[in-house]
Amino acid sequence: MNGAIPETLAFDIYGTLIDTHGLIAMLRCHAGDNASRFSQLWRQKQLEYSFRRGLMRQYQDFSICTAQALQYTCLSFGVSLTENETAALLNAYRALPTFEDVTEGLGNARDAGFRLYAFSNGKETDIVQLLDHADISRYFIDIISVDAVQSFKPDPLVYRHFLEKSAAKAENSWMVSANPFDVIGAVSAGMRSAWVQRSPDAIMDPWEIKPTVAIHRLNELVSAITDWRKTTFR
Ligand code: LAC
Repeated sequence: MNGAIPETLAFDIYGTLIDTHGLIAMLRCHAGDNASRFSQLWRQKQLEYSFRRGLMRQYQDFSICTAQALQYTCLSFGVSLTENETAALLNAYRALPTFEDVTEGLGNARDAGFRLYAFSNGKETDIVQLLDHADISRYFIDIISVDAVQSFKPDPLVYRHFLEKSAAKAENSWMVSANPFDVIGAVSAGMRSAWVQRSPDAIMDPWEIKPTVAIHRLNELVSAITDWRKTTFR
């Protein structure tokens, strides 16, 4: 790593480390062939609800956004779930799988001397459960949740909260995220950002605010940051 100041990495959780579409098999029991589209709409509405609640200053934690988005998606697909089926899906959401490159990518970043944090819209208790279930808690110094400041990404407030809690400087901090709104939000708040383009058809929003680097797999992160530093500060 370059110089004495270690880089701080803020790992987004849902969609970056944790696969939000990991419940397709369960959803197939309720939505049949529409399971994949059901999963997409559920995620899309969950995020929309978080954005709207942030703008309206009507905060309810992310698990409420997830539950209400599930209700919306059921209405949209004409699926009716019992209370137990709903509870089972929401419980399974706390045990979603990781993407296959995660353990190696986190291990590489930690071994390279980076300071790793989990930084999420999710409630701390949900993130603890997800990381424990995936057996990746040990890589992180801490979990930082937006819940403490009662707003959601990409409100600049939540990135400031991250920097305060991690005692990091914006210019030495990287948001590592597959979610373009998170990448743009972090850069706009003064941080660096690595966009994880998890599939070739994932599109970065064509805004004037760009990711600092783009990678396809988490094990490319260390070299992408190191190379960027070398070329930017030589
Ligand atoms: C998170 C959402 C944005 O984990 O995916 O913060």
